[in-house]
Amino acid sequence: MSLLIKNGRIITATKDYTADIYCEDETITQISPNIDPPAGAEVIDATGKYVFPGFIDPHVHIYLPFMGTYSKDDHASGSRAALVGGTTTFIEMCCPARSEEPAEAFELWNRKAEGNSACDYSFHMGVTRYDESAEKQLRDLVSKGLTSFKVFLAYKGAFGVTDDELYNTLKLAKELGVIVTAHCENADLVAAKQAEFVAEGKVGPEWHERSRPVTVEAEGVHHFCTFLESTGAAGYIVHTSNRPAVENAIAAQQRGVDVKIETVIPYLVIDDTYAQKPDFEGAKYVMSPPVRAKEHQEFLWQALADGRIDTVGTDHAPFDFVGQKDMGHPARGSDFTKIPNGIPSIEERIKLLYTYGVCENKIDLKTFVAVASTNSAKLFNLPGKGDIAEGMDADLVIFDPDYRDKISAETQAMNVDYSGFEGVAIKGRPSAVTVRGKIQARDGKFVGDQSRGKLLTRAANPS
Ligand code: URP
Ligand code: ZN
Ligand code: ZN
Repeated sequence: MSLLIKNGRIITATKDYTADIYCEDETITQISPNIDPPAGAEVIDATGKYVFPGFIDPHVHIYLPFMGTYSKDDHASGSRAALVGGTTTFIEMCCPARSEEPAEAFELWNRKAEGNSACDYSFHMGVTRYDESAEKQLRDLVSKGLTSFKVFLAYKGAFGVTDDELYNTLKLAKELGVIVTAHCENADLVAAKQAEFVAEGKVGPEWHERSRPVTVEAEGVHHFCTFLESTGAAGYIVHTSNRPAVENAIAAQQRGVDVKIETVIPYLVIDDTYAQKPDFEGAKYVMSPPVRAKEHQEFLWQALADGRIDTVGTDHAPFDFVGQKDMGHPARGSDFTKIPNGIPSIEERIKLLYTYGVCENKIDLKTFVAVASTNSAKLFNLPGKGDIAEGMDADLVIFDPDYRDKISAETQAMNVDYSGFEGVAIKGRPSAVTVRGKIQARDGKFVGDQSRGKLLTRAANPS
């Protein structure tokens, strides 16, 4: 299997130049100005197009038992949607219930992905209980190559950990050299506010944001950073949505805390007015932390542009509007706390980030690649990913900047009955997407091998 990509404008996190790229089997073997097509090679003419390294989504939920239901995509549909949108690797949150054993949970999540994912994948191992037995299993999972844990400071009574458990998880992570990703919201404050609002009859989707305001997230970030500081562990704050939360993380960095910062695409495009839409429409935009006021969105773009925010993921968590989001509908007793949290976006991240970031001059092309690919490859130890260079995996996105369209649930590959970005205009889309040398998507359609994806672990990819 060999592939030659001619005349593309190659953009990485550090370089911008025009050249041909030759891939043999799974790897980029030559990059130079004019490569003659070797016999039998498939040739893509990328004149007028960008060639980006395959994009990496550091935060997705594919299999997610949550709030009394299950997220809608499986690894087949989720990976196809990822590829159509230019994402060639995702890192899924493995989220066991507190009563589940970590080793069994990992087996379950991995079994669901294995043979079903069309793109490469890895996991952040959720630590939702910490005791002697859990610790032993976590040690074992790290010895098998997992490079990150996930903790929830939110979701009291479900995935959330106590401070004692948080402390022990971070101590273990420090010892094992594992980075700990964290959902940072003060769970007790959220629970108190939710109870107050519901008791006062404030039950529509618009109350979701007010029940977990900016301060609740900022406190969560500060709290997590304090624990990082006292253990010396490395941390990564997932889905930061607002200025005070990001500033608390930056203040911690300035004290020497090793913490990195993620935001996710819904916060960059959607604001709190969406969650205030009438007739329960706002439920489509309920996620946690919530979508925020416009001023925070502007801040997030600036923080991406100047490198204060490291990555843009999706937090893809698809729940149907009919049959799932409507668990909190007036016809079923009206309660925003029953609306499954999450917005589907694995398919749209790159197109939206390009359209509303690069085309609006909010971020440049190299930053676009850094935050959507390269930085995640480095942080989560994914050798071969996140760059275009000889010897790297041939994960490539040939991107047509002239394409114009509007997002619609009618045409999406994600297995969910609505789009949180319905009618939103996009400029540009991937015209070909390769996973380790094989073309997996073309012009918005999956065209590849459904079982091509492989699990990326430190053991499988020694650096
Ligand atoms: O609303 C969200 N974010 N749903 C998925 C679970 C999580 O907190 O990441
Ligand atoms: Zn979360
Ligand atoms: Zn999440």
